[in-house]
Amino acid sequence: MGCESNNATPPGPAIAPGSETLDAMKIAEEIAQGRRGRWPGGIDPRLPAAVPGFDAPFFQAGLAGYSDAAMRIVARRHGCPYCVTEALLDRTLLAGGRGFTKADLGELHDNIPGGIEDHPLAVQIMGSDPKEMAASALKAIEQGRRTDKAYRALAYGHLTHDPSGAIVKHGPEDFALEQVVCGEDEIGAGEGLDHDGPEAWSRDFNDDDATPTALGPDAPMLTRSFSTVDVNLACPVKKIKAKARGGHWLAEPEGAIAILEAVRDAVPREVACTVKLRRSFDDTTPMVEAFYKIYDAAYDMGYAWATVHARTVEQKYVGPSRWDLLREIVRRSPERPVLGSGDVWTVHDLFRMLEYTGVSAAAVARGCIGNPWIFRQARMMLDGREPTTPTIAEQRDVLEQHYTLALAANRRMRHPDDFTSKNMRKFGIRFAEHHPRSEEVRLRFIAVKGIEDWRRVLDEMYLDG
Ligand SMILES: Cc1cc2nc3c(=O)[nH]c(=O)nc-3n(C[C@H](O)[C@H](O)[C@H](O)COP(=O)(O)O)c2cc1C
Repeated sequence: MGCESNNATPPGPAIAPGSETLDAMKIAEEIAQGRRGRWPGGIDPRLPAAVPGFDAPFFQAGLAGYSDAAMRIVARRHGCPYCVTEALLDRTLLAGGRGFTKADLGELHDNIPGGIEDHPLAVQIMGSDPKEMAASALKAIEQGRRTDKAYRALAYGHLTHDPSGAIVKHGPEDFALEQVVCGEDEIGAGEGLDHDGPEAWSRDFNDDDATPTALGPDAPMLTRSFSTVDVNLACPVKKIKAKARGGHWLAEPEGAIAILEAVRDAVPREVACTVKLRRSFDDTTPMVEAFYKIYDAAYDMGYAWATVHARTVEQKYVGPSRWDLLREIVRRSPERPVLGSGDVWTVHDLFRMLEYTGVSAAAVARGCIGNPWIFRQARMMLDGREPTTPTIAEQRDVLEQHYTLALAANRRMRHPDDFTSKNMRKFGIRFAEHHPRSEEVRLRFIAVKGIEDWRRVLDEMYLDG
């Protein structure tokens, strides 16, 4: 199991002594007015300076198994200003997805940018080797403009045969970008790009006929690529062959710093790099010191911000998140923007986290699965309006939209409708929580075996409104 989790904690409050009396509506109002030391409009200007378009103090977190293009676009239609892909293994990216269909993290086809509506977007990468991480970050940002071979050469060096049959070792210098720009003769049809071919790197979703429109090379880079590279040093996924990855790097600060350096060096300066951390590997003093070593190094080498999930790696997703410690991290160096994660279950939690901890933005993670309305509610509260809950008609509309977008992404599957309906069960179960007959609807979604069942649940349970 990867970043996904079976043993997740049920929704509950974070540890934040003294926060019980905080009034979220009042906080939202004050944030919007730039009072209480907050920024005008509520947005820390360092966020849009690094990532243009990040215009509200919240965003959708990376969620392996969930935060694919369809979920992201639905969130954005409800006011989410910024999203993070599922964590992608660097090797998945370097191999163009081949051979990794059973990877326990995100899959490539789910995480390519979803076009004009899916921006700004962070690609989140995770891995064990600085060079592989650097090459995969570059490949994601460049959208495969070099050949696969070139990116692998950056990661591993490369061996070929000369005309006499002798082995020749190539270094990265043999694969400079100028030599292999996409569209030029050096690249044959589809060669060197991911398994879906060039158009799959970026696409626009068309709601009406569920056909993703390929964005050609003339489309603005902003809509074709990622705005940010987010390095995952947080995921509690197990080590493989004693090699650290994700959150395990928090116990090995030198290795973590080498990865951060390699990625920052590889990615063009104008593209923001950020890092996702846990509050530390565990709560022992050496591990807390290791956290700060990595945290300081990231900002010193130009990382735009760190998102800190205020649980330890050891804790996985169980038990409360420690907003009190998150607050300490923010207060220790207020000149650094920090984004906070952990126990944002409702829109009220979101504003309480901002107020209590002083983070520049709050990550919405499990709190937005089946609940894109949390973003609409946050925007409403910033406008000084009471947040509303979704009507049945709105719920049905969003389920239909989510399905259509997911179907578009799955169009190459053998039975895209059945595949999509089965894959949508996990979302349906969470959407059911808004329904007045939630338990009945939940059981109906669980029983979905294909497109016919999916349609029947919508037609029978989401009629009125
Ligand atoms: C199912 C699941 C998948 C996750 N996948 C990722 C991921 O791919 N990348 C990431 O940075 N964090 C991932 N996380 C962590 C969340 O982004 C977030 O930090 C964590 O859930 C704490 O927030 P919450 O308590 O509000 O849910 C995942 C969490 C869950 C529950």
